[in-house]
Amino acid sequence: MKATAKAHTNIALIKYWGKRDESLILPMNSSLSLTLDGFYTTTSVEFRTELTKDQFYLNGEAVVDGQFDRVTGFLNLIRSFAGKDNFFATVNSTNHVPTAAGFASSASGFAALAAAAVKALGLPVDETVLSRLTRQGSGSACRSIYGGFVEWEKGSKADGTDSYAVPIAPADHWDIRVAAVVLSSKAKKVLSREGMKRTVDTSAFYSSWIDGIPHDMDQIKDGIRTKDFEKVGKIAEANCLKMHATTLGANPPFSYWHDTTMAVMHAVRELRENGIPAYFTIDAGPNVKVLYLPENEQILKQSLRDIPGVHDVISSKAGQGISYL
Ligand code: DP6
Repeated sequence: MKATAKAHTNIALIKYWGKRDESLILPMNSSLSLTLDGFYTTTSVEFRTELTKDQFYLNGEAVVDGQFDRVTGFLNLIRSFAGKDNFFATVNSTNHVPTAAGFASSASGFAALAAAAVKALGLPVDETVLSRLTRQGSGSACRSIYGGFVEWEKGSKADGTDSYAVPIAPADHWDIRVAAVVLSSKAKKVLSREGMKRTVDTSAFYSSWIDGIPHDMDQIKDGIRTKDFEKVGKIAEANCLKMHATTLGANPPFSYWHDTTMAVMHAVRELRENGIPAYFTIDAGPNVKVLYLPENEQILKQSLRDIPGVHDVISSKAGQGISYL
């Protein structure tokens, strides 16, 4: 009873920021992302009757800390879904997501884990159910079930059955690229889980964040459909700034940005002033991702690499959804 799955990470263009249910991982708002070809996780899950507890290896090393608890907690959910509570597994995961690039490897990690576990148990689940299960490992991971542009519909039911991802447009719909700008700086101080909770609970700006989502979502979907890069870029950038504004209105206030984060934001605006369409987005950390079109790849990467404090620039195309190896 073994299966191996591959999942790519995704970058949110409309951010998921805040939960209405912490344990089921139900979001306050719908979000929209692009799955990325360049960053992925492969995970094999083998259920073995002789095991008395789960085992988790990440990049070849046994993991026993908090990450193990999240993996085994998630497997408990799959086990109870399958009605196989006493069935433990060996999980082998390899991350092809440079941690330094500031992508949450939890998105590709939980998507690959969910897909492999469900397949290993032979559960007949469709992608909607898989996305719903994956959501309970890490919210953003539910979008990585699909390739290309993906919306996570927040849903409204208390049991979360209507909160899952749906594909908006496949990876080959439109060749837009994302450059991950790697900063030479330290780990983030406020984890995304803690940061989003603090803003929901205390931010003076949280209700405006929520109020703006339906408009941003409508507009970005229209921009994706018509391949209007300026429209998509402007909305994504403004949506990211609104998300980060909520952190400044929190109590105690915080910010994920470093000096170099802001230098990259300025450089992207300057590129635009010089006629190169490029837009930034930032998750719960200091690193910046830049959206651009393939014809501008060379100049964009060079300009970003020239910024003091930038360690590397790694670019990616749109990627595919879950696959089985
Ligand atoms: C800022 O999905 O990592 O990247 O559901 O608590 O595991 P949990 O959070 P996670 O949060 C991602 C937040 C974000 C925005 C996004 O990806 O939509």
